[in-house]
Amino acid sequence: MAALNSKLILLASIFTLGALASLAMARHTPQEAATRLRHEQWMARYGRVYTSPNEKETRYQIFKDNVALIDSFNAEGAKPYRLGVNQFADLTNEEFRTARNRFKGHMCSPQKGTFKYENVTGVPSAMDWRTKGAVTPVKDQGQCGCCWAFSAVAAVEGINQLSTGKLVSLSEQELVDCDTSGEDQGCNGGLMDDAFEFIIQNKGLTTESNYPYTAADGSCSAGKEGNHAADIKGYEDVPANSESALLKAVANQPISVAIDAGDSSFQFYKSGVFTGECGTELDHGVTAVGYGESGGMKYWLVKNSWGAQWGEEGYIRMQRDVSAEEGLCGIAMQASYPTA
Ligand SMILES: *[C@@H]1O[C@H](CO)[C@@H](O)[C@H](O)[C@H]1NC(C)=O
Repeated sequence: MAALNSKLILLASIFTLGALASLAMARHTPQEAATRLRHEQWMARYGRVYTSPNEKETRYQIFKDNVALIDSFNAEGAKPYRLGVNQFADLTNEEFRTARNRFKGHMCSPQKGTFKYENVTGVPSAMDWRTKGAVTPVKDQGQCGCCWAFSAVAAVEGINQLSTGKLVSLSEQELVDCDTSGEDQGCNGGLMDDAFEFIIQNKGLTTESNYPYTAADGSCSAGKEGNHAADIKGYEDVPANSESALLKAVANQPISVAIDAGDSSFQFYKSGVFTGECGTELDHGVTAVGYGESGGMKYWLVKNSWGAQWGEEGYIRMQRDVSAEEGLCGIAMQASYPTA
């Protein structure tokens, strides 16, 4: 009897030790384990590979913080938009801004005088240039701060389709590699107006397929630069700080706009009408390709260049006609467009 008892005690001890050991190895509460699993699934979905266990742990901690922020924002449901655990979920907000948002707002030149749409009246109540065939599929700038090139190219693709009837995907890489004699600096940032200026001087821009995107600075291919698939005559600035002027312009063609996209709510935007948080420190170039109203809320339809997995299949609807004259996130501050 005594022998059996000690055997039982021994067995019990082994079980206890085993349980303690596995607890010590995992160190995780069920919630922690669930978040780690979510991170693994997220890594698989977005093809993320880390170079070391340390790197993975660092990235996991950032992922965990971001997921907590996203989940609590969505649970609160206080805003008309939702956030999502997207491809940027293992980046801090600072890393995110540094890698992508390189619109050089502070370098902007004074506004140009003419505005060809100033006398436009009776704009339609909604517009979506995608349905008119003037917008190419959403592109992905990757880890290169050349948002300015994507913004300018989308506007040129738009006016080119409107004037020729042909939608042609045009080359951002040509701007990154070749538009380097002025303020524009490839992956280190630039301005849409300077990109338009380059296209005018170069007498055109080649196609995406002829000069494909590499998400890195490269040397300019003179041969490709000399191939002109689309050209523009000039460019104009939309009068600053007027959403009604911007409306007249967007009613007529896709428009390059600069915005403050620095907040984590923009980083993780998933769907709905975005209402901020954001300021007016312009750091990102995108393209307004329409406008409308949803659930009593007016919005700008904006094409981004962060791939189709971000936002509403690559787009964001941003609140329109806000009380600040600069527009939400400064969208009405530095809008411009090429002319055919
Ligand atoms: C707008 O109308 C005014 C007054 O008729 C005219 O002077 C101006 O040239 C027009 N602007 C454009 C861009 O057509």
